[in-house]
Amino acid sequence: MTVISLGQVDLAEMDPEERARLINCLPGYKPGMLVGTCGADTQSNLAIISSHFHLGSRPPLLGMILRPNTGSSERHTLSNILATQCWTLNAFTLGQSARAHQTSAPYPRTQSEFAACDFTEEWKPYCQAPFVRESPLQVGCKLRQHLPLEINGTHMIIGEVSALFFPSHARREDGALALDRMDLVTISGLDTYSQPELGVAFRAARIDTPPTEL
Ligand SMILES: Cc1cc2nc3c(=O)[nH]c(=O)nc-3n(C[C@H](O)[C@H](O)[C@H](O)COP(=O)(O)O)c2cc1C
Repeated sequence: MTVISLGQVDLAEMDPEERARLINCLPGYKPGMLVGTCGADTQSNLAIISSHFHLGSRPPLLGMILRPNTGSSERHTLSNILATQCWTLNAFTLGQSARAHQTSAPYPRTQSEFAACDFTEEWKPYCQAPFVRESPLQVGCKLRQHLPLEINGTHMIIGEVSALFFPSHARREDGALALDRMDLVTISGLDTYSQPELGVAFRAARIDTPPTEL
């Protein structure tokens, strides 16, 4: 096997698009969620985002990183969240991945990605933002903290889970969710969608016992 070795200078000199594709693969397999929002004028918006992370469960906090508005491209998800303080996260399946990917196209503010990409808006209690009706796992979030990051101008958005909807067969006895029972996808880089099939689950690790399968 030949190993490719790249240092800081190689990365700095690389074509920007090639570097973006490369660096986006480094965190490994990532979550993929469609983020549903609406503007103060109730214009709905849907965008695929893969930078989600779990921040804590008491209170239940989830975060994501959003790119900033620039002169040439508006970020509707960011401005909607700052205007309305809420959003939805909607997981999707491999069969829905082409339409989910399409939400990343730069549609104008007046054109909803729900209609353009053939997803259905669903409005529910506990959340003032639209859910994706076709999504097996729907999460409503309320803005708790917004941190503009000095290092590169991106924005860390932290939300508290305010509503949660999923099929009962996906719930394990210990409270966790079996994501495979909902056929959810994972993302690599900025363009590859896969559905994990084989998996193994372990009990919480202890220093005095070997790993034990659940
Ligand atoms: C697989 C994938 C993952 C993405 N992840 C992010 C992300 O984590 N943060 C982000 O700001 N944009 C991300 N994008 C880009 C947005 O989807 C894209 O900029 C979209 O047009 C934003 O829509 P909006 O202007 O309606 O908010 C991703 C795109 C793809 C295809």
